[in-house]
Amino acid sequence: MKILILNGPNLNLLGRREPAIYGNLTFDQFFEGLKKKYADVALYYFQSNVEGEIINKLHEVGFSFDGIILNAGAYTHTSIAIGDAIKGIETPVIEVHISNVYAREEFRHVSYIAPNAKGIIAGFGLQSYELALESFI
Ligand code: DQA
Repeated sequence: MKILILNGPNLNLLGRREPAIYGNLTFDQFFEGLKKKYADVALYYFQSNVEGEIINKLHEVGFSFDGIILNAGAYTHTSIAIGDAIKGIETPVIEVHISNVYAREEFRHVSYIAPNAKGIIAGFGLQSYELALESFI
């Protein structure tokens, strides 16, 4: 089973960025643990701060992978283009968020990913990614 975790803008700063909201662990530390725990799954990781690169990655894997776990960061709330890309590919996408976006500012309550996603997981810290992965297995 081939699964991609795709992180959007500012998520390269995990571990340093607003730790009260996003925690102290870097994504690389978390990802190493995840790969060990799910050794039977071919897990890939890609992060970009650039909207077009996220779209290119969705196109690249979206006809051959079994699942995509997408945290589009703030692009979740703004990007019609990422929403359209998800609509255009075959691989199911699960939208994840580390924080509970619905308990935060109102602009975070809007998602251009959700209408085209298989499901949404938010508010469980980095465990949100693991719950999404479990749902694909
Ligand atoms: C986030 C929530 C977004 O609103 C925010 O812009 C992020 C991170 C999360 O994982 O909680 O960058 O996607």
